[in-house]
Amino acid sequence: MGQGWAFCLVLVLAAAGLPGGYGAITDKPGFGYRLADLSTASNGAITSTMSNNELVTNIQELGPDLSSLSLTVQPVTSQILRIKIGDAQAPRWEVPRWLLEGSLANGTAPQNNQAYIFNYTGFPFNFQVLRNGASNTTAPLFDTGSEPDTLVFKDQYLSISTVLPENATLYGLGEQTRTTGLRLPRGGDTITLWDRDINAGTTNTNLYGSQPFYIDVRADGTAHGVLLLNSNAMDIVLTATGLTYKVIGGVLDFYFFMGPTPAAVMDQYTSFIGRPAMPPYWSLGFHQSKYGYKNLAEVEAVVANYSAANIPLQTIWIDIEHMDKWKAFTLDPVNYPPAQFKAWVDRLHANGQKWVPILDPGMSVEPGYVPTEEGIADDIFLRDLTGGLYLGQVWPGAVHFPDFMNPKTSDWWARQISRFHNVSGFDGLWIDMNEASNFCSGEVCRLPASGNWTQYAGVEPWRCFLDCQLDQALAPQVNASVAKLLFPPYPVNNGATGQPLFTKSAGASSTHYDGTTEYDAHNLYGIAMAHATRSALMQLQPSARPFILTRSTFPGSGHWAASHWSGDNLATWDNLRYSIVSNINTGLFGFSMPGADICGFIGNTTEQLCNRWISAGAFYPLSRDHSDIHATVDQELYRWESVAEAGRSALALRYRMLSYIYTAHADSSAFGCPVMRPLFFSFPSDNNTYAVEEQWLLGDGVLVSPVLYENATNVTAYFPQGVWYDLFNTSSRIDATSGGMNVTLDAPLGQVPVHVMGGTIMPLQEAAMLTEDTRKSNISLLVALPYLSTQPGGSGGGGASSIGKRHRLLLQATSTTTGSTAATSGGASGTTGSEAGGVGGATGSGAAGAAAVSPSAQPGASAMAPSPASASATAPAGTAAPPSLQRCGA
Ligand code: GLC
Repeated sequence: MGQGWAFCLVLVLAAAGLPGGYGAITDKPGFGYRLADLSTASNGAITSTMSNNELVTNIQELGPDLSSLSLTVQPVTSQILRIKIGDAQAPRWEVPRWLLEGSLANGTAPQNNQAYIFNYTGFPFNFQVLRNGASNTTAPLFDTGSEPDTLVFKDQYLSISTVLPENATLYGLGEQTRTTGLRLPRGGDTITLWDRDINAGTTNTNLYGSQPFYIDVRADGTAHGVLLLNSNAMDIVLTATGLTYKVIGGVLDFYFFMGPTPAAVMDQYTSFIGRPAMPPYWSLGFHQSKYGYKNLAEVEAVVANYSAANIPLQTIWIDIEHMDKWKAFTLDPVNYPPAQFKAWVDRLHANGQKWVPILDPGMSVEPGYVPTEEGIADDIFLRDLTGGLYLGQVWPGAVHFPDFMNPKTSDWWARQISRFHNVSGFDGLWIDMNEASNFCSGEVCRLPASGNWTQYAGVEPWRCFLDCQLDQALAPQVNASVAKLLFPPYPVNNGATGQPLFTKSAGASSTHYDGTTEYDAHNLYGIAMAHATRSALMQLQPSARPFILTRSTFPGSGHWAASHWSGDNLATWDNLRYSIVSNINTGLFGFSMPGADICGFIGNTTEQLCNRWISAGAFYPLSRDHSDIHATVDQELYRWESVAEAGRSALALRYRMLSYIYTAHADSSAFGCPVMRPLFFSFPSDNNTYAVEEQWLLGDGVLVSPVLYENATNVTAYFPQGVWYDLFNTSSRIDATSGGMNVTLDAPLGQVPVHVMGGTIMPLQEAAMLTEDTRKSNISLLVALPYLSTQPGGSGGGGASSIGKRHRLLLQATSTTTGSTAATSGGASGTTGSEAGGVGGATGSGAAGAAAVSPSAQPGASAMAPSPASASATAPAGTAAPPSLQRCGA
């Protein structure tokens, strides 16, 4: 390997070598790209021209190799390294930077103190990324050199591999519902990234979003993150020895986030893709939803029943039934009559509650439908390869899909949203079907020649009634530039069976306003819609923080929409378990507020499953019960007394902790740490935490260990080193001071073990039926001692108690921060709710451990910090000093 570089390099590579067969690269020692002559520009960049006279095509059936490549090695910051390989001769598709709010495109890097070292070989070109300062025997973090599949770069097939040591544990890459658990499998598994509307109960295949990001934790607890910023369809193959990307377009644009802790990785990663959005305080309350609330009276009854059952309900959601024939931005004149609707919303608001409607992107082609007529006038819809508007089918029947990449679309979208807000007074938006989902499959679809299409709206809506031409039928009619989109030479493993890209979405040949094809931009549909929706809500109510739930995601989506749920799960015990891994992954993908449909979406839930699910789901960041129209068992929590009781108990604790949870969101939006964290995130040096996937940390110091198996009445949970206090009974504690341990806990139906870590200072308020009432209630501080106290005044020889009891604590220095990205030391900072840029302009002071955050959504509200009055103390003699808490508690 050659020298380490500490400055920006742009190199050009030439393909060269001997012919090789598909996948058989070891037999062609002469194959590869050759680094050509390098020259350094005044800004430190190195450029070069190159020749391709050594070029030999590899894997010929996938097309010719590009003859000259450009390589950019860019130290973005001292902790973030970019390595980009593109075509030296022509621009190729790249992810538009406006989608990434946190983009450091103009970031400057210091010339020294880089955490990374870039090594390379000139021919065949290979590179390594190493951790600066690591010993010579430490395996590289990324190493393209020794895997058989070295760099391949064709127009529609880009492949590169890294070696991975056995002791690397990987997390991330999605979206999938994985039966293999939290750690990424390494048994030859292929993870495909191509957004797809398929029920989330379908395991181990590509789902709604595409997240080409992983965190790699090595056995010594050091972590780094790797993002391949590319929106094209791809397969990622994971084996015992390495990882191979097989991408069908764009460029190889890698970002390495050096950590070295998982918390630092997430801080660096979200500084690049955009910090997680800060949700409004009310959205932390409990939500009820159902696909199938027939009319307003039924919705009102559900709200009233929650109240009668004394279960807090903050938000009621209404699915597609509120619409007139399933058309977005309308109200059903019979079942949700506009004349009564606004009065109902006013009553709901007067009661302190909220409502959220679903909003799908497909715009009905029904003549006279204003949003579509305006959209046609503004020319903001996707076009098909004939130049006509792409025609798909979703709930309302035939639809056109807005092109959210078009700047004009944002204005049109904001207009529709504003008009609908005037008639409906909604409080947030749930953007769904944004893969974009289509019940038809085809590059070009037309209304059926026979019959009126409107008869199909809502009738077996999932059956395609349009006349669609598939790629084969179109082949003779299309030119080569279109044909290549219809027949990519490398078919990714879409749907685990290599389904065509157009399957149940807009055709890959569909075009955006600037000619960009869906082939390149399909995986960005959801993030672009979230971007436009956030912008619309900000225009509508500049002083209110938007609440958006989105289904389809890409890196950066979490900045525009705070929340993502795992989609259409099944009402099964397996899916209750999967929800934890899905939610944890959603956090690692940069969302502060993951959730899964509590009690299960598809199929009939049972009393016991729903009981256990709300006991767990009360501690999801988004706590929402949602079910499918075909479920014949209603699953609102009050339907069974045992479930109601479980809900009351778990939600009461959630509401008491709302300030703590809100603070966790503030930390997330400032530093990128997930609100729902895997244990390895906070305890990376404890290898036992790497496989824990049935528990999670909520914020810095709360450990949730739910029962996830039918008929089980206890749970074996892992407690990392420390003292852990039962939050339902703080005089009961787990003593793991001598090291992490498994403990079997009793958890009869209706109970869920929730513990707070010693060293945490948690604001607790009063449980109430409304988030606002909790917010206004008295705050007490729960002080969880970080050691086993034998001091007088302790509760039961140590414990968690009120600060009023004069426990002596070892606290970190009080810190004050200014600005949304300022670091704090020794504890979380208080943060105000300024709107622009999430929590921009935050100020606050925090004593060690935790600080409450102002729940106001108004800019300029001041932070509340717990009194640091009794903050001077020392640990009793003979007690080890507690671990110092860093930002995000890690
Ligand atoms: C999709 C959503 C689901 C919703 C349904 C009807 O399947 O994932 O949550 O209820 O559409 O709108």
